[in-house]
Amino acid sequence: MSLNVIMGKVSGRMRNLKVKLVKGFSMYKIAPSILSANFAKLGEEVANVIASGADIIHFDVMDNHYVPNLTIGPLVCSAIRPVTQAPIDVHLMVKPVDRIIPDFAKAGANIISFHPEASEHVDRTIGLIQEHGCKAGLVFNPSTPLSYLDHVMDKIDLILIMSVNPGFGGQKFIPSALDKLRSARQKINESGRDIMLEIDGGVNTNNIAEIAKAGCDTFVAGSAVYGAGKDTDPHRYDSIIAALRSELAKAGK
Ligand code: DX5
Ligand code: ZN
Repeated sequence: MSLNVIMGKVSGRMRNLKVKLVKGFSMYKIAPSILSANFAKLGEEVANVIASGADIIHFDVMDNHYVPNLTIGPLVCSAIRPVTQAPIDVHLMVKPVDRIIPDFAKAGANIISFHPEASEHVDRTIGLIQEHGCKAGLVFNPSTPLSYLDHVMDKIDLILIMSVNPGFGGQKFIPSALDKLRSARQKINESGRDIMLEIDGGVNTNNIAEIAKAGCDTFVAGSAVYGAGKDTDPHRYDSIIAALRSELAKAGK
C-alpha cells in the first residue's frame, strides 16, 4: 500500500470521526430558562450556566396579557448578548407578536418562537422572524393541536412543546406532552427537514431521559437548573448540567 493510499485512509477516518463528534455534540441541547435565574446578577448567571456545559439560553418573554405574568424584553436581551456566544432562544408569550420581533432580532436573538394563537397570520409571522435572520419556532400549549403545523412544516425551524401551561416557572410536568412529542417527531421525520424539537416546563433529572426517548432533542429547564446548588459556589451549575447529561446518556443517543 502506497503512502498516499494510507494517508487517504487516515484522513477519511479523521473526517468520519469529526462528523461523529460534531453529531454527538449536537444531539441533545440543554437550554436553561433564565426565568428562574437571579435577576440581580443576570449576566453572571448566563455566563455560569454556559460555562457549566449548557448549550442555549432560553429567554421567556411574558406580557401580562397573553399570559398572566410580566417578565423581560429586548433591552434585557441586548444586555446579555455580549456575555455569551451561546444561542439566545426567545420564547414569546405575547400577543400581538409581530411588532416586537424586529426588536428581538436587533437585540441579538438567534431563535424566536411564538404561540400560533397569538398571531393572526402564522405564516407571515414565521416569515418575519426568518427575514430578520433568526430561526422561527411554533409553540404548542398543552391543549393546542399540532394541526397548526400542517401547512408550515416546510418553513419552520423549531417546534416547542409546552409541558406546562405558560406563565410561570416551577410547575409540574404534564405527561401528555410525551405523546405530543412522539407525534411531532413523526411529523419531523416525514418532512425530512432538520427541525429542532424542544420541550418546556417541569423538566428535571427524573424525567429528562423519558422525554428524550419520546423524540425531544432540546430541553428547557428553569427551576431544575437555576434552583440547584449553593448561591456562593461559582461552579454551582456543573453538577446539575452533568446530572441532566448523564440521564440523557441513558436515553441511548
Ligand atoms: C413557562 C416558561 C418556561 C419555564 C420553565 O411559561 O416558558 O420556560 O420557565 O421553567 P421550569 O423548568 O421551572 O418549569
Ligand atoms: Zn419558555
